[in-house]
This record gives sequence, structure tokens and C-alpha cells, in this order.
Amino acid sequence: MKNSRRAFLKKTSVAAAGITVVPNIAVSGLGHRAPSDKLNVAGVGIGGKGHPNLVAMNSENIVALCDVDWKYAEKCFNEFPKAKRYRDWRKMFDEMGNSIDGVMVATADHTHALIAAHALTLGKHVYCQKPLTHSVYESRLLTRLAAKHKVATQMGNQGNSGDGVRQVCEWIWNGEIGEVTEVHAWTDRPIWPQGLERPAEKMTPPDTLDWDLFVGPAPMRPYHEIYTPWNWRGWWDFGTGAFGDMACHVLDPVYQSLKLGYPEKVNGSSTQMNTESAPQAETVEFIFPAREQVKNQSMPSVKVFWYDGGILPRRPELLPEGEDLMADGLGGCIFVGSKDTLVTGCGGFNPRLLSGRVPKETPYLRRIPGAVGYVDGPHEQDWIRACKESPENRTEGTSHFGYSGPFNEMVLLGVLAIRLQNLNKILKWDAENMRFTNISDSEELRIVTSDEFKVIDGHPHFDTKYARFNAVEAAGEYIKHTYRDGWDLPPMP
Ligand SMILES: NC(=O)c1ccc[n+]([C@@H]2O[C@H](COP(=O)([O-])OP(=O)(O)OC[C@H]3O[C@@H](n4cnc5c(N)ncnc54)[C@H](O)[C@@H]3O)[C@@H](O)[C@H]2O)c1
Repeated sequence: MKNSRRAFLKKTSVAAAGITVVPNIAVSGLGHRAPSDKLNVAGVGIGGKGHPNLVAMNSENIVALCDVDWKYAEKCFNEFPKAKRYRDWRKMFDEMGNSIDGVMVATADHTHALIAAHALTLGKHVYCQKPLTHSVYESRLLTRLAAKHKVATQMGNQGNSGDGVRQVCEWIWNGEIGEVTEVHAWTDRPIWPQGLERPAEKMTPPDTLDWDLFVGPAPMRPYHEIYTPWNWRGWWDFGTGAFGDMACHVLDPVYQSLKLGYPEKVNGSSTQMNTESAPQAETVEFIFPAREQVKNQSMPSVKVFWYDGGILPRRPELLPEGEDLMADGLGGCIFVGSKDTLVTGCGGFNPRLLSGRVPKETPYLRRIPGAVGYVDGPHEQDWIRACKESPENRTEGTSHFGYSGPFNEMVLLGVLAIRLQNLNKILKWDAENMRFTNISDSEELRIVTSDEFKVIDGHPHFDTKYARFNAVEAAGEYIKHTYRDGWDLPPMP
């Protein structure tokens, strides 16, 4: 049970029923004021995670709901019977733009950026699920649009509001483990199909699903039930595989406590990877340059290692025998410091030092009421609080796009390293210009398209076929996607 999707959704929504309602203060800066100073919130992508996200926001008016799959969305429609229903978020913005204050986005990864970017451009506050976007360029765009329009934003990595990540930051900044030069982070995902070839079988989409709207900006492909709901995660056009799915949770305490910024080098490796879907198990190594000292602690160059699909880091010798690195069912990380080693679960929960020493508690970072454990509710409510504060006096949610945009770029760079692994090199990243500096114009990327296996007369026969791409062009396309006709992002500010 611990690895099932149902258990994960349940685990992350237990607190939704008991959220704290923030005091009513003026809804600022929007030229529109909702009854009793409540926000008018619209939800896009409401059949899965969007549902508990909206329940966690039901201190406000949930005025509009949009989903491309009205059967899957039915439970959420029934939960908010007064909300107006849509299939196409563009129509929703056209018709209700003037009466919406904030937008919650929980669609498949490849459509987050379009919906969020247009909402930001309309001056709406945005709560957007993790990973924030599907491409590095989209992350950069959302970061800049959020700053330009001075709205409140939050990426939906709810662990980010938790006490654990705050404690990790305080311990590291107080010098409890010394200089950190190596971090190892992991998850056991995927718990959905990956490493698959595109299905050949053709299916007709059910009447309740608008397949064209689901595909959205990605290249059109025939419908198959294997893509939506939920299983889109493993398909490159729609999701980002296990790394993109979980790294925004697992690496959050690492990115935050070590103030990582942009990596300068990245290298990926995995089980067989094909053109269609993410591989079954992946490792990534990031190299970050030295950063400015934080409080008492210097921040030397650090290597961050990622493992998924069942691969775990080398077990630290001091880790007590029998201790399960996947005990929380999500993942965790090991910070190797010059004085001690810090181990945490996913999202920085349950931090402990391998020496057994317990640092004196000196909490000084802002705590979010109720954010103990991996729960929905406090993270959404902290965004709502920020929406109601004026831009000049706002305390941003800790996963506002100014933080989560660059963090998400790191995560997507890891996905890029996996997709470009066939180049057999440590990729050098020019973050400012969003390009790799050591891929030459003539380099070629060779990626498996199909891999049939047969036994003939007792002997194994593999028929492995490959596609070849110009590496600079392929990397450019992964970094900034070309969208299908009819889909556009607002310009980069
Ligand atoms: N923070 C967490 O703990 C957590 C947990 C699960 C999922 N997520 C994230 O939430 C997002 C959704 O994941 P999920 O598991 O709910 O997936 P899902 O497939 O179960 O649900 C996605 C919903 O969005 C709808 N949808 C897809 N494209 C749409 C579009 N263009 N317009 C309107 N509706 C659209 C689908 O029909 C479906 O109802 C993902 O980004 C995922 O990474 C976060």
C-alpha cells in the first residue's frame, strides 16, 4: 500500500479538512473585491491533486472549475456545485476574467506554464502544482511574469511550508554540520509506467474527454487510455518522469538550505531511454559553484546526486542497521558535512544527525501554522494570506515563483541531463542564456525508438532501432518548446 498512488494522495490530503482560515483583510490591487473579502478562486485541472488543493482553499469562493475530462472531474464538480464549469481555460478567462482573483493549476505538467503565464498576465494570483513547468524557458518566464505583475504565487510542493525544511535551514546556517560538499537525494518513483514505447493500438477518446485540449501545446498524437489521467507523468511530451515529478519535493530542503542558485555542470545516466517515455531508473549529478556565506556557514562548491527508480545512494556507515531510507514512502536526502551528516525524509521531514547529537532548537524562520508533516492545507492557506497582502507589504509564500522558478530550472536541467546522456559528457550550463556551452553544432544525439526482443531457436534477438537528432537543436527544443499551432506564451518581460 505504501507505494500506491492512493496512499500518496491520502497522505498528502489529511490536513485539508482542518485548515486555519486567515482573518479577512482587504483583497488588494485587483480593482475587484469579493464578498466578505474572500478571494474568487478558479481551479484548472481538478480531477486529481487539484481537488484536495481546492478543498484546502475552501475558506474562499471557488467560483470556476475547468477540466478537459468531465467524468474524472465529477467528484470535484460535486464538491463545489455553485462553481461555473469549463473545459477550456481560455474560455474561462474570457468569460470570468474580471471576477477571478486567483487561479489554481493542477493539470499535467506540459500545460502548467501556458495557463499560469496567461493568468499572471491578467494580474491573477497563481498557485501552480510542481514541477512548476515542463521546460526551463517556461520557468524563467513565470518567474519574471510573477515579479512584473506583483501578484502572490506558490508552487504546490506543500512540504516547502513544513517545519522540517525550516529546521534543516537553521541547523545548516548555524553551522551544525559544517561545510556541505556532497548531497545525495532519492525517491522510489516511478509508481506509474515508464520506459514504454508509444502504443500502436488506436483508441477512441470517451465523449467526456476533450483530447485535443488535453494535448494542448504538445504535438498531436492518437488518443490512448495510457496517457490520461495520471499516467501522463511517464511520457516526455506531457510529463517529466520520476525526477521531474519528485525532485521538487525531495530537493527542496537542499535547494533552500544550501542556497544553490544555478548549477554550472550536470550529468545524467539511466536505464535504457527512448524517444517517448522516461526511463525506469535515473541518476543525475549536479555541480554548483561556491556561494555566499549564510550566517555562520560558508558555502563551498557542492555536488548534488539524485537517484530514482529503486536505486539508492551508498548507505552511510553510521546509519543504524535496519533503518529504511524509504521509510516515509516518498524519498529523502543525506547532507554530507565536514562536521556531521544530516539525513532527512522527503521535503526535509524528520531531520536527524548521524552522530546522534541533537542540535539545540533555535527556531527563527517563519513557521506556517499547522504545517507539521506532509499535509495539504497550510501551504495553500499561506498563498491565500499572501494574495490578501498588498505587493509592497507582502510576505511571500516560501515557494513563490521568485524561489520556485529558479529551483524548477534546476530540476528540469536534471531531466535534460537524462535526455542528453547519449552525448557522454558532463554538460556545462550557461544559466543566464539558458544554453549548454559544450555541445558543438555537429554533434548528434542517438536515442532508442523501439527495442523488440524475440527468442529464435533458443537465442535472444534484440531489434533495437534508433532516431538521430542534431544535439544542439534537440537541446534547444527541450529547453524552449515549439508549441502546436494555436498555443502561445506571453512574451518574456
Ligand atoms: N504536490 C503533490 O503532492 C502532488 C501530488 C500529485 C500530483 N501533483 C501535481 O499535480 C498535477 C496534476 O497531477 P495529478 O496527479 O492530479 O494528475 P491527474 O491526471 O490525476 O489530474 C490532472 C487533471 O487535470 C485535467 N487536465 C489535464 N489537462 C488539462 C487542461 N489543459 N485543462 C484543464 N484540465 C486539464 C485532467 O483531466 C485531470 O482531471 C501535476 O503537475 C502533478 O505533478 C502534485
